[in-house]
Amino acid sequence: MTRGRFITLEGGEGVGKSTQLRALTAAIAARGVEVVATREPGGSAGAEAIRGLLMEGSDDRWDARSEALLFAAARADHVARTIRPALDRGAWVLCDRFVDSSRAYQGGGGGITDVDLLALHGFGSQGLLPDRTFLLTLQADEAAERLAVRDAGGADRMGSKPADYQTRLAARFLEMAAAEPDRWRIVDAGKPAEAVTDAIMSQLESWL
Ligand code: TMP
Repeated sequence: MTRGRFITLEGGEGVGKSTQLRALTAAIAARGVEVVATREPGGSAGAEAIRGLLMEGSDDRWDARSEALLFAAARADHVARTIRPALDRGAWVLCDRFVDSSRAYQGGGGGITDVDLLALHGFGSQGLLPDRTFLLTLQADEAAERLAVRDAGGADRMGSKPADYQTRLAARFLEMAAAEPDRWRIVDAGKPAEAVTDAIMSQLESWL
């Protein structure tokens, strides 16, 4: 039994990750491969409970270190209960956000060092990294427009950050992608959704 592939989607808010996750899951399943679609924070019962703690309440509910620990704890449970068992039985795992979101949000935006975040990940999730990470990029104004539609009823705790935070995030994601080019692929998410799905699928073709 060969281990499944672990694929993550990353990027700022409003770049279309959840739409792509659904489309990619269907496209990969159509090739006869078992695929588990999941997201962070969440993806297991314990991690979903922690998600509630992270996504609800006021902006200052958690200090930066507590927040980083909660994301790492949610991820540890998600990896132990959902991701590793799926990969071990040969299924592919497609995940909307993973440790790189902590490195961008708690690191770039939140002031925790990358070394500390990777140490938390080393302890919590035994340092599991994706086989491939797709960074979905979008012009800031287009992302803001999409978000305004999505969050018309009010943003959640993590989404209610100032605009310059989104700019710093985008820069941090690009920096991580440049530092690890074997793992990351950058995808222009400004194209129609089907074209974005096709672009990602063509990059996964050799593994299918
Ligand atoms: P989403 O469901 O819109 O992707 O929301 C998840 C939010 O949580 C988003 O604002 C990014 C944030 N987040 C972090 O700050 N750190 C993390 O490690 C993860 C997975 C998400």
